[in-house]
Parts: sequence; C-alpha cells; structure tokens
Amino acid sequence: MDLSTLPDHARPSLSRAPLSESPWFAVEYEPTTHEVVMMDQRRLPGEEVYYRLTTVDHVATGIRDMVVRGAPAIGISAAYGLALLAHRERGDARIFLMANGVAGRALNETRPTAVNLAWAIARMSRKAADVAELHPDERAQAMLAEAEAIHREDVASCRAMGALGAKDVPDGATILTHCNAGALATGGYGTALGVIRAAHAEGKVVRVFADETRPYLQGARLTAWELHADGIPVEVITDNMAGHYFQRGQIQFVVVGSDRIANNGDVANKIGTYGVSVLAKHHNVPFTVAAPWSTIDLRCPSGKEIPIEQRSREEVARVGDKLLVADGIPCPHPAFDVTPAALVGAIYTERGVIRPSEGESPESFLKK
Ligand code: MRU
Repeated sequence: MDLSTLPDHARPSLSRAPLSESPWFAVEYEPTTHEVVMMDQRRLPGEEVYYRLTTVDHVATGIRDMVVRGAPAIGISAAYGLALLAHRERGDARIFLMANGVAGRALNETRPTAVNLAWAIARMSRKAADVAELHPDERAQAMLAEAEAIHREDVASCRAMGALGAKDVPDGATILTHCNAGALATGGYGTALGVIRAAHAEGKVVRVFADETRPYLQGARLTAWELHADGIPVEVITDNMAGHYFQRGQIQFVVVGSDRIANNGDVANKIGTYGVSVLAKHHNVPFTVAAPWSTIDLRCPSGKEIPIEQRSREEVARVGDKLLVADGIPCPHPAFDVTPAALVGAIYTERGVIRPSEGESPESFLKK
C-alpha cells in the first residue's frame, strides 16, 4: 500500500503541546485518538500535509517509503508504532510479546543503515518484556510513556549537541550542510541543524549553504524549507558547486548528521557526505558531525561493517516526472557513504564531543 491513498490533513492541532516543540513536526502521537500523526515529507516543500496512522503496518510503510526519514525520526516513529500496537493488542502476556516481536521485526526491516531504528525497537522491546504481565491498559500506557521518553530525550539531545557544536563555529561563518539533519529528521530541533540553529541564535552564522543532495533532494526540499521557515539565511547549491565555494574560501565550517557511527569513529551519512569531507580536508575547513548517542553502534567495529541501503534506480533516473536516463541504462543507488574517522574533526553528542581526527573514538571516549 501507499500512504497517499489515506486522507491527508493540514497541520493538525494536537490535544497537547507537540513534543517536537515546534508547530510543524515529522511525527507525533495523539493520545486521545491513538493515532501516529506523520508529516508526508515527500510532498514538501509544495505541501505540508499529515496522515493519521492507526496501524503498525502504516507506520512501517511510512518509514519504508520515506514519508518520514532521518535516523532519529524513524526510530521515534517505530517506537510510536509499537505504542500503537500495545494499545490495540488486548491478548495475554505471551500474545502481546509475540505481536510486539513480529511488529518490531517488520519495522526493523524497513531501512537498514540508520541504527537508531534498531536501537528504538530494542528499547521498546525491553519495555514490552518488563510490562507484559500488566493489565492491557496499564501495559499500553507504559509503552506509550517509553515512546514519549525516546522522543523527549531526542529533542533534549539535539539541544545539548547544538550548544556544544555552536562553540566551534567561527564568528561570521558560512556553514555547509548536506542532506537534512534538522527537525524533520529528528524528534525536533535537529542534529546538524541544531548546531546551526544554536550558532545562529548566538549571532555567529551569516549564511548556510544547503547541498541539494542528489538524488532524493533532501537538502533542496527539506533543509532549505525548515531553515527559511526559521529565518536563517540559506542558499541551495547543487552538490557539484561545493568545491567551487571551498576553493574561493567561502565556507568556514561543515556540519552534517549521521545514520550510524562505528566504534572507531567512521561515520555513515547520506551519499555525497564523504566527498564533502575530502573537500573540507583539502581546504582545511573543519568537517563535523552532530548525532545523538543512539546513532553510535558500539558493536560495529568500523565503517566497513555498516550496511549501506541500496535504493531504486528510478530515484536516480528521474527527477519527479522528468526522465533523465534512458530506460535500460543501469543507475546504481547507494543511499549512504562512509567518511573515515581521520576526516571527522568532531562528533557532537549529548554526552560530549568526540574528536576522531585527533585519535579519539566512541570506544576511547567512554573510557575517559
Ligand atoms: O535517507 P534519509 O533522508 O533518511 O537520510 C537522512 C540522512 O542521511 C541524515 O543526514 C541523517 O539521518 C542524520 S538525521 C539527523
């Protein structure tokens, strides 16, 4: 199924203040009607519309089809999907745990690279095991409270890493970012865009360059939309213009998000990020990453072990309805790449700053 077949809605007023702390949001839970309210990001910037989802299948479809995207936002969506399931499943503890397990596996299969998805499902499943024996109403309440905690903690993490990252931004900087690591990609505020928002609030940011981010155009469609909505000066450049602006000394700082960070500090992020990091290194510009601790995969030794999602040929061969590549010509589409730790000046997290290019890694940071 495609969620576009469901009725869509203008920006909804929820029965309580959005946990995203913003009038528009990627995903929220409406506790009075038990609906997952999800923006259709595929329709931005032309239309801001939301679906009211009532089944875990709908939520899984929303993640798989990139109605919602961005590593923390898909983790939060999956958590709300499992809260929804807990509300609907009235069976005994064994049946509840079985249903939770089946739903968790289906959600986990939707997108492979962002580890926040598996992390959120594992956390919800631990909660499910703890509360399985409770009355179905109490069990459902506890599952929703856990999903909401994941959401609230993500926003708090974004604000904490934003404040840390802003300290490194030089005064009067033009900042380059790639893809969308903003409020749309998280519980709210954003990771990379959290750093930009905090630095802008301190008066440090003169301008943001948003790479358009071929082929899915998250930079052009989403980053530009959300920064412009906040009154932060943003200009969209095509991905192949970045080198030109580095060469002319017009970029002073780079900050991006991440979908998975390996134990040695290698960083997976949207395809094209690695190229930006090489340019930044050549031009002696800090290349930095902002991500919550839930993006760090301590079980993954290095970037080589990070699974890279392969997406469809169609997303490369077309822009909207426009055919760019004749039928029959292959268009490979790895959706992410890996930037080696040596090129990463800083990883801003809610627990502090890791400096991989100075030999620090998540593993060594934890031993400090
Ligand atoms: O394919 P997407 O749009 O889900 O990819 C998103 C990114 O690569 C983001 O930069 C990343 O998830 C960090 S989000 C805070």
